[in-house]
Amino acid sequence: MVAMNIVITGGSGFVGSYLCEKLINNGHKIIVIDNLLTGSTENINDLMSNENFSFIEHDVQDHIEIENKVDYVLHFASAASPKAYTEHPVNTLKAGSVGTINTLGLAKKHQAEYLLASTSEVYGDPLVSPQTEEYWGNVNPNGERSMYDEAKRFAEAAVATYSRSYDLKTKIVRIFNTYGPRMQLNDGRVVTNFIVQALRNENITIYGDGSQTRSFSYVEDTVAGIISLMNSSEYDVFNIGNPNEMTVGQLAETIIELTDSTSEIKYLELPNDDPKQRKPDITKAKTKLNWEPKVNLEDGLTKTIKWVESQLSK
Ligand SMILES: NC(=O)c1ccc[n+]([C@@H]2O[C@H](COP(=O)([O-])OP(=O)(O)OC[C@H]3O[C@@H](n4cnc5c(N)ncnc54)[C@H](O)[C@@H]3O)[C@@H](O)[C@H]2O)c1
Repeated sequence: MVAMNIVITGGSGFVGSYLCEKLINNGHKIIVIDNLLTGSTENINDLMSNENFSFIEHDVQDHIEIENKVDYVLHFASAASPKAYTEHPVNTLKAGSVGTINTLGLAKKHQAEYLLASTSEVYGDPLVSPQTEEYWGNVNPNGERSMYDEAKRFAEAAVATYSRSYDLKTKIVRIFNTYGPRMQLNDGRVVTNFIVQALRNENITIYGDGSQTRSFSYVEDTVAGIISLMNSSEYDVFNIGNPNEMTVGQLAETIIELTDSTSEIKYLELPNDDPKQRKPDITKAKTKLNWEPKVNLEDGLTKTIKWVESQLSK
């Protein structure tokens, strides 16, 4: 790929910071736009002194203007965990809606390509499993997660509409549960929750009876999938995730084993609109992007546990 000027919103977050690293290593220039709501400059510390990297502290719900030529816009800015979007409901709603329109406007002005970070949450509590890109979802439009789910569904509609109306080249990635170093430790996501509790030998808290299923993708696999999509000539929607499905109970047991912990499992009441099942069908990404996840759960968890340990000992 020729060197490009790439804008990444949400680039100081968990997934965005890995994307910045990869794309800079591939010779591109990166401009991050981030309001640091849930991200941290710590994630991009190593990039700050790089002449091909710049950081703009800015909220995507406000108009975005970049003077230099922009070739590619990746819109990743949004609170992403149920805890974070419940704490910042209006910002989340606006990052997905107004923020998507603003970033599409930026792409339109520069005739840049555009990639939206969507989510498996657009499938809601799915009635079919695994979920293919053709499934339209089962979402509560005004439920407790709707500021996130419905904003992302609006974002997809906005991308499709700008693409049809202004001939913009756009792509959508529906990211499924991703984990790895740099996740925030206190944002309630299940992998880090369990690891922190296991390392402290505290009770591992499971919401519900632990039979709900999830499939977890290691961050390097997810980012490799996103970059495969960027590099492809596919202007379409793709699921990126790991189809290796397991129950939340099994995840807790695996983490207890890998951390050699004495933690016990404690069951709590299931929150509203918590999906019972999540598993991507990644046939489309496999066949059209020639991508599939490579990191097995034990290896990914071991790397994540090591990183969490280093954070806890700070
Ligand atoms: N991690 C996952 O499992 C997962 C799954 C599905 C979708 N996604 C999507 O990927 C993207 C990144 O998620 P993540 O896990 O890295 O989350 P994250 O919270 O670590 O990163 C999000 C980044 O966006 C920034 N941000 C939030 N609201 C903003 C706003 N209004 N203006 C500017 N910046 C803002 C935050 O400060 C943060 O740096 C999100 O769009 C999320 O919806 C992630």
